[in-house]
Amino acid sequence: MAWTLAKLNLSLLLSLFLASASSFANVPPTCHRIECPSYDVIHVGDGYEIRHYNSTVWASPYPFQDISVVEATKTGFLRLFDYIQGKNDYKQKIEMTAPVVTEVAPKDGLSGESIFVVSFYVPEKNQGNPPPAEGVVVGTSKPVYAAVRQFSGFVRDSNVDEEVAALKASIAGTEWSSAIKKSHRGGHGSGYCVAQYNAPFEFDDRVNEIWFLFDMENGRHSN
Ligand SMILES: *[C@@H]1O[C@H](CO)[C@@H](O)[C@H](O)[C@H]1NC(C)=O
Repeated sequence: MAWTLAKLNLSLLLSLFLASASSFANVPPTCHRIECPSYDVIHVGDGYEIRHYNSTVWASPYPFQDISVVEATKTGFLRLFDYIQGKNDYKQKIEMTAPVVTEVAPKDGLSGESIFVVSFYVPEKNQGNPPPAEGVVVGTSKPVYAAVRQFSGFVRDSNVDEEVAALKASIAGTEWSSAIKKSHRGGHGSGYCVAQYNAPFEFDDRVNEIWFLFDMENGRHSN
């Protein structure tokens, strides 16, 4: 009897877990076509997911100011596009990856402008010897946790704030919230990232994500 009950509870737990896992959109469809940085899913919550990204090489044009996430992403992406098309010190073409990550540092009080860093993950085959380029920072990211919210459609300045607020609300009061609040990733501000997985001309299966990057003390939850 006790055994049956335990078994029942376990399968109940499993089905609950599977239900919540599948309620979060899975790996973005784009990542079945082109390379994306891999990550470990640490936890699936209600409306959010906690991931861990290992240290990898990313390319980012120098940070710049703007007032619009959409415009900043275009500007940053055009510079990255030059880089992958061979405008780099090795005159080497590089495969496109996803997502394009636009990191938004908090607004500067007076100008209302934010500092943007637009980045793209360097494909695995170039990670060992990524081409340097004028005006592009090619560097190794630290291992990092991300609280992630997915949304579909096109990223617009009007919906980014709503999605950021929704992610904040869904992690409030969870075991992750204090670590997220505490993490001020030096130089990268305590803002958020918008990760976009689709080209502007793709209309179906569009997936975007808001990321709050954070560290965990004592490597808790790390593998
Ligand atoms: C990250 O690194 C750890 C430790 O080396 C490894 O166990 C894990 O599989 C890696 N995760 C991914 C997604 O590559």
